[in-house]
Amino acid sequence: MLDQQGMKALAGKRAVETLVSSGMKLGLGTGSTAIPAVEHIGALLAAGKLRGILAVPTSFQTSMVCEQWGIPLYTLNSKEINGSLDLTIDGADQVDLRNYCTKGGGGALLLEKIIAHASSAYAVVVDESKLAGDLAVTVPLPVEVVSEARIPVTRALEALGAEVILREAVRKAGPVITEHGNLLLDIRFKQPPDSAALEAELNGIPGIVENGLFTRLRPKVFIARRDGTVEIRD
Ligand code: 5RP
Repeated sequence: MLDQQGMKALAGKRAVETLVSSGMKLGLGTGSTAIPAVEHIGALLAAGKLRGILAVPTSFQTSMVCEQWGIPLYTLNSKEINGSLDLTIDGADQVDLRNYCTKGGGGALLLEKIIAHASSAYAVVVDESKLAGDLAVTVPLPVEVVSEARIPVTRALEALGAEVILREAVRKAGPVITEHGNLLLDIRFKQPPDSAALEAELNGIPGIVENGLFTRLRPKVFIARRDGTVEIRD
């Protein structure tokens, strides 16, 4: 039987083995499930089993891991990438039965969403604990907000029925500041929201930069289970 980190590593590795081939332009995700996938790509490159990978990282965490493994780094704006990727592999905080996801537990949702939407194919790697009936009810949905709009956005979210918590930093006084200089509001609903409608509605509130709902993509979801099996759900 695998522990949670064992399941995460298994999901990431399986996604790489199933979907990644030489010469691909890849978006690389953030968090404790995506990082083992990044490391596996690094190991395959080092062993000469994979060649010519061009990677766009979704966060500082991911870019540091790529640096350690010598994975060539680019941005979406690099000439070699030219705004589009073959595949992105990333983790998620929750995945429902339609393969809609919430993301941003690691605070990287803005670039994660931009990169996912710039990719022809999208793979989400999770352990079975991430499967959910309803999104944003038990596990909070992160919303990235311009700091000057913190209170008006909080009131607008409360008017939608959300409980709103400003994400506080650990080992630093005050709030988390994202890699794009914004705040994160973690929101939760008592009644399950309509995820697809909510994703669009939230981004219509002035001051919200992006939210962690991913309902417009059709990912392949790799679900690792305690018994060492991986379900691939389209
Ligand atoms: C970071 C994310 C992560 O993919 C998500 O939080 C899952 O993280 P982990 O794999 O560590 O559980 O969206 O912003």
